[in-house]
Amino acid sequence: MSALPYFCKGEVVKGFGRGSKQLGIPTANFPEDVVDNLPSDICTGIYFGWGCVGNGVVHKMVMSIGWNPFYQNTKKSAETHIIHTFDEDFYGETLSVVIAGFIRPESNFTSVEALIAAIHSDIEEAERQLDLPEFRQLKARFFNNTDVNLPNGY
Ligand SMILES: Cc1cc2nc3c(=O)[nH]c(=O)nc-3n(C[C@H](O)[C@H](O)[C@H](O)COP(=O)(O)O)c2cc1C
Repeated sequence: MSALPYFCKGEVVKGFGRGSKQLGIPTANFPEDVVDNLPSDICTGIYFGWGCVGNGVVHKMVMSIGWNPFYQNTKKSAETHIIHTFDEDFYGETLSVVIAGFIRPESNFTSVEALIAAIHSDIEEAERQLDLPEFRQLKARFFNNTDVNLPNGY
């Protein structure tokens, strides 16, 4: 995917609210214009990268882009789960993300439990990948973060 890494930002809008309630995995939804402006090269599926709310701390994130086949959404969405526990919702705040890599296509599942298990395994995959120097350096590059210790050459 030649469009990666891809940086975008937008105001966090309300989704269906199922992420927190049904899945226990809260997601921040981007507005329609951000979704519509994603490069065509970024196909639907599950991605990992870095994300930050307002001027806050930059965290690892996983992102789902598409129609959520399990819920059969009719509108394409881009939903970010920041791998961090926040005390409060952040609707209305600006979410900035850099999409770094692809994990898998969106799938349908026979149970909510299976969807939850898949998302947990995506989170583990994201945690692993983002520790690699190749992806750690994106945090510094896109968020001007100086506390990233990188080996020579990055
Ligand atoms: C890492 C990640 C992977 C996901 N994978 C799938 C998937 O394979 N199939 C699917 O239907 N939905 C998938 N979702 C989307 C969830 O179904 C969605 O976040 C949930 O329905 C909450 O949406 P809401 O905030 O609009 O309520 C994924 C979400 C995340 C964060």
